Amino acid sequence: MANAPDYKALTVLEPIARELARIPTLGSDELEALYIELLGRKQGSLTAVLKTLPSLSPEEKAQLGSGANALKRDLETAFDERRQALKSETQARAREGVDLTMPGRGRWIGAEHPVTRVTEEIVQIFHRLGFARATGPEVETEWYNFGALNFPPDHPAMDMHDTLFLAIPERRIVPDRRANRTSGVVETHERRASSDRRRPSEGRYLLRTHTSPVQIRTLMAHKPPVRVVIPGMCFRKDPFDASHAPVFAQIEGLVVDEGISFVDLKATLSHFAQAFFGSDTSVRFRPSFFPFTEPSAEMDVSCRICGGSGCSACKGTGWMEIMGAGMVHPTVLENCGVDPERYTGFAFGMGPARSAMIRYGVNDIRLFYEGDMRFLGQLAKY
Ligand code: DAH
Repeated sequence: MANAPDYKALTVLEPIARELARIPTLGSDELEALYIELLGRKQGSLTAVLKTLPSLSPEEKAQLGSGANALKRDLETAFDERRQALKSETQARAREGVDLTMPGRGRWIGAEHPVTRVTEEIVQIFHRLGFARATGPEVETEWYNFGALNFPPDHPAMDMHDTLFLAIPERRIVPDRRANRTSGVVETHERRASSDRRRPSEGRYLLRTHTSPVQIRTLMAHKPPVRVVIPGMCFRKDPFDASHAPVFAQIEGLVVDEGISFVDLKATLSHFAQAFFGSDTSVRFRPSFFPFTEPSAEMDVSCRICGGSGCSACKGTGWMEIMGAGMVHPTVLENCGVDPERYTGFAFGMGPARSAMIRYGVNDIRLFYEGDMRFLGQLAKY
């Protein structure tokens, strides 16, 4: 190209040469149209110039011939380069998977999980009665999960709690080696906080089977009066069936103060049932057993489906069980350094998924914990 004649100086070639600059900007249809216009075998304008060469004088032929041929080469190169560029653009787009004819993809709109929403609603009902929110760890020790709650070792109540133990070493209280001043012998003492007096070892680590260990943590950290609700996840080696989930939510409640009686328990929990399920809800308390409460009770609400007359949802009884409760066992208070002569209290524990099942008429707990958007979307509030 360096020694090619300057075809732009040749009047007949000049308008054709001017098209060169446009070529790199053209789309493929315009590109092919221009190709035909300039280089087409029948009507291409440069082809026409080349066709006149044989009839020219030798000097004219030499001058125009080399210019026209150089221009033809440059045009061919520019067309080829542009064709190549358009082809790679199309391939790149195909690689990104952009198919402009495809229908648009819908987007999920996030919403609170129904169990989270029900949990928050329950916490708020108690909040209005003066309860604070407390939380505790999901990894606990045997002492917090069972021992401090007055479960005797190997008590049958522990059968209900098919526990997931963690394969990490037991927690022991840090030994404190000190010289005995009188004998001069080095002895091993256990360094204990005052509240540790009853526990030489906290036992194995486990995933908490209920939120009740947070009762212990709360009472050890705060002097009464205490009024707390404790939402949290719990873990049991349960099968995943219509009424059990191995990972499930609980809400615990604890009130400890001077002069708290079973009347406070009944009044507080009846108020909750009516606030959550509706003012037409009746409640009943049945005697029950939990190692950390005495006396213990189970609270039922009138069936939401049949209103109490009996149906398949309540197995014909007219009642649905929603929580366990009771007066805090004096031993539990003692274990936390609270004087049971001065203070009394009540506690309760419930599963918000169960409350959600009763409220929404859902008969399988798995629906709440499987994460199927077709189900969750129906209960979502945006
Ligand atoms: N922790 C019990 C459970 O998981 C539920 C419970 C019952 C909690 C009675 C309480 C209570 O605080 O008083 O099955």
